[in-house]
Amino acid sequence: DLISHLLQTLDLNGSIDDTQTLRLPGQTDQPLDQTTIRGALSSLQSRLMVDFAPLEREVLQLTPEGQAMADTGSHEAKVFHAVPAGPEGILVKDLQAQLGASAKIGQGKALAQKWLKFADGRLTRLVDTIVDQTQADLRTIQRTGTLAQPAAVKDLLKRKLCTKHKTVSYRVAKGPQFALSVTKQATDITAELLASGEWKNQSFKSYNFNAVGIQPPSGHLHPLMKVREEFRSIFFEMGFTEMPTNKFVESSFWNFDALFQPQQHPARDLQDTFFLKDPVSSADLPSDLVAKVGQVHAEGNYGSIGYRYPWARAEAEKLLLRTHTTAVSSYMLHLLAQQKPFRPAKYFSIDRVFRNETLDATHLAEFHQVEGVIADRNVTLGDLIGFMDVFFRKMGITNLRYKPAYNPYTEPSLEIFSYHEGFKKWVEIGNSGMFRPEMCRPLGLDPDVRVIAWGLSLERPTMIKYGVDNIRELMGHKVDLGMIQNNPICRLDKKMGKEVMEETR
Ligand code: PHE
Repeated sequence: DLISHLLQTLDLNGSIDDTQTLRLPGQTDQPLDQTTIRGALSSLQSRLMVDFAPLEREVLQLTPEGQAMADTGSHEAKVFHAVPAGPEGILVKDLQAQLGASAKIGQGKALAQKWLKFADGRLTRLVDTIVDQTQADLRTIQRTGTLAQPAAVKDLLKRKLCTKHKTVSYRVAKGPQFALSVTKQATDITAELLASGEWKNQSFKSYNFNAVGIQPPSGHLHPLMKVREEFRSIFFEMGFTEMPTNKFVESSFWNFDALFQPQQHPARDLQDTFFLKDPVSSADLPSDLVAKVGQVHAEGNYGSIGYRYPWARAEAEKLLLRTHTTAVSSYMLHLLAQQKPFRPAKYFSIDRVFRNETLDATHLAEFHQVEGVIADRNVTLGDLIGFMDVFFRKMGITNLRYKPAYNPYTEPSLEIFSYHEGFKKWVEIGNSGMFRPEMCRPLGLDPDVRVIAWGLSLERPTMIKYGVDNIRELMGHKVDLGMIQNNPICRLDKKMGKEVMEETR
């Protein structure tokens, strides 16, 4: 094998000047792969059996065109030979008909070399014989990989008749522990080696501090979870507390009624919401709050005339898969309102929500929402806009606009738009608003406590960041586990922001 051949050659010749000339016995016409040789030499070097140094050089290699010229001559030589001796010469158009494309290039060069003369549409010979130096140079390159005249090399490179490549081979000498065969080295000193005293004779494998090491068996974070981690750290550095979103099943009460969403609202249809079959409902609702919420729907209160329909507790008790994390926000605000005296609060959550959607490349029946809530006395719409500017700037998104929108639970409501540099238009990146008194007052918040809130999807920035254009490659049974294993960590830096604006649809 290669290792013993290397050792025998060294034993025989004392050194190897260049491994490029090395051949395995019986394979004299087959050059060896230098990368394989390097591997063998490295392993021998780690045992101090050899020393080696790289020999780097540049070689020239003929392109297919250069190859053809080395075989049949340069364009200029072909042109010269196509011109008959004597004063008649040849008409340029006849020459072109005869030689085709090579006539034009060759003609110019043959004139420049003063081999030919041009007059009255005719080429005639100025000399009887020529030396085709281009062909000779190309043949030299073909044979030796080099050419001694730098100017000629430059010209041939420019004419794309040859290209330059780097090769590396090795010069090898015997090392201090040179031997003809490789003895097995121990990797560890063992109790047996110590007890027997054998450690004195044992050869030990040296440490390879450059080894890459093996990948420890470990889990991998899904891209969505990586982007979630980035959002979480933005919220934490802005002083937010994470809401407990570990319940996917909610009552209609927290998901809709407490949010002043009327019971006839289309979002509460089977077509839009997944209701539970078993159990269908839960009576576990805070009674005094249920009464207040029912009243604000049916009759109005707190300065509102309400929706004026017969509100039904049974409808509010129906269990569902939460359609938005605002279900958790309403519950958390209820807990907050119970703490007296009131203290301002900043809450966020990032978790899964469920909607009975028609599935396509950008919609799944479940996705993740990034939700934020700020409650304080006399917070204004200006605070909401100011906060959004800071929040999105932390993701590198700076160019925001707000458009009036409608949610049953916010007034005013604002859709947040960002300018998309790639599409040259404004794209929606989130929904927000100030929670209505019809929502906040029944929960028990003081009249002057205002709540600003917003929601975004986690999938959109993740798909942009990881270049996924079909959501089914990100979630569900078609997900490629290799994608999860190999994707890099996510950082919502300035570049991310630019990407969002360039690629958000
Ligand atoms: N719940 C809204 C949605 O699902 C987002 C939102 C949250 C809007 C809070 C306003 C205030 O789209």
